[in-house]
Amino acid sequence: MSRTITSVVGGQKLGAAPAGSFASVNPAHLDDTVAEVTAADAAGFVTACRVAATAQPEWAQVPPPARGRVVAAVGRIVEANSEALAQLVTRDVGKPYAEALGEVQEIIDTCDFFLGEGRRLYGQTVPSEMTDKSLFTFRVPVGVAAVITAGNFPVAVPSWYLVPALLCGNTVVWKPAEYAAASAFALFEMFAAAGVPAGVLNLVFADGEATYRGLEEALGAGVVHKIGFTGSTAVGVRIGELAGRHLQTPCLELGGKNPMVITPSAQLDLAVEGAVFSGFGTAGQRCTSLGTAIVHESVHEEFLDRFAAAVSSAVMGDPTGDVLFGPLLDRRFADRFETYLDWIGPHHKVLGSTGTGRISTDNPREGFLGDPADGLYYHPTIVAGLLPDDRIFQEETFGPLVGVTTYRTLGEAVELANAPGYGLSSSIYTTDAREAFGFRTGVGAGMVSVNNSTSGAEAHLPFGGNGKSGNGSRQSGQWVLDQFTRWQAMNWDYSGRLQKAQMDVPTVAEPRLDHRLAAG
Ligand code: UN1
Repeated sequence: MSRTITSVVGGQKLGAAPAGSFASVNPAHLDDTVAEVTAADAAGFVTACRVAATAQPEWAQVPPPARGRVVAAVGRIVEANSEALAQLVTRDVGKPYAEALGEVQEIIDTCDFFLGEGRRLYGQTVPSEMTDKSLFTFRVPVGVAAVITAGNFPVAVPSWYLVPALLCGNTVVWKPAEYAAASAFALFEMFAAAGVPAGVLNLVFADGEATYRGLEEALGAGVVHKIGFTGSTAVGVRIGELAGRHLQTPCLELGGKNPMVITPSAQLDLAVEGAVFSGFGTAGQRCTSLGTAIVHESVHEEFLDRFAAAVSSAVMGDPTGDVLFGPLLDRRFADRFETYLDWIGPHHKVLGSTGTGRISTDNPREGFLGDPADGLYYHPTIVAGLLPDDRIFQEETFGPLVGVTTYRTLGEAVELANAPGYGLSSSIYTTDAREAFGFRTGVGAGMVSVNNSTSGAEAHLPFGGNGKSGNGSRQSGQWVLDQFTRWQAMNWDYSGRLQKAQMDVPTVAEPRLDHRLAAG
């Protein structure tokens, strides 16, 4: 059963369908249309930004603890609907139900953290260099945040933006991924039910180009003050350029080629478990998914054998069942994944399944749960023998593909880890503290795991990357407050005189700087 969903701006459905409509399909059952979505055009996006700009001053007047209560209510409503929301996420993007439940929990955790922030949102009192004068700092909202999110985490990652942005007194225009529209709409309705006023959070369904043009116009009109974007590096570069022309720094959360270093002292079983989960969980479609396992040559053969055996015997298929992973998110990701498979060369050794590419009756996967013809199912693929010049080594291959290569010294491992130029997540398996800290110091990633997989960040640590993975912005925890507020400095002179900074500063006494201890 599908329903039609439409953008909501200022609490109202946004017009007819100026940019047509599209079907959002269940990737595990391609004959199941989850929603018919009415698409907005660039003008619709601009309208939403104008409405958000009009609503912002009043929302900013609401005391932060009261905004925190709204955030608390979002968390409680999500919690009360967690199973239904997780089921919808599974249907919408094919994420296994257990992972979808985890994703929903991440929203609850985010709300739990930020409801308290409503009672903090601290500024500072700062001593002045002059008497009868006080200095203060205040966090002020940025204005309107335009939030553009991907569909691999269709509800958790949006909440990383929406919750702190609203808590800080901003209004929001949210443009979710088209192929995850039903989950987005459900989450939007939960924010509305929690008491977020009409116009404070607006939801716009539009394609990438219409969004970009709308953003360009809205920035020009001064009705967008912060962009939050999760998606590909290529689009992040375009958004970064556009924002830069308006002297804005966007919050960019982009791709990754996340390395996992496996050292001679590693507990191999643990490393294999971590590699299986981070390489193939969410069908390898997390931005934190494992890209390349960089394995010390002394344990390479042993690791590869165990890793290949674990992946080969893993159950995959119907995401409503107990599976390691289900289908790819959407047809566009499946098509792109097929081009990555073309990068496999004759010098590579391919392991992990009974075939490569799309799973079908002619290209079956042993132990597949369900009928592969129903959806966009692909064989898990381990590509061993990677060389630094290989495209598979250098570029993100969003999907169920993990590369494996070897190293001799830790310095070499760090160099290989950094070589692709991304810098989101990373991991090292070792029982040697010097290796763990040596890796942490050398790796360019924003996140480092020790004896843990590259994915699975907790909701209150800074999340974000460097290099091709992002511009250094961080989400989650207290660190995200710097994305959605600006510091305002205030000084108040109550001396009744003009006291000039640096010039009218009292001195206590002339110091005797030539003072020395007497010898002996
Ligand atoms: C993403 O893929 O964009 O750390 C986010 C993790 C999740 C979030 C991933 N908590 O893997």
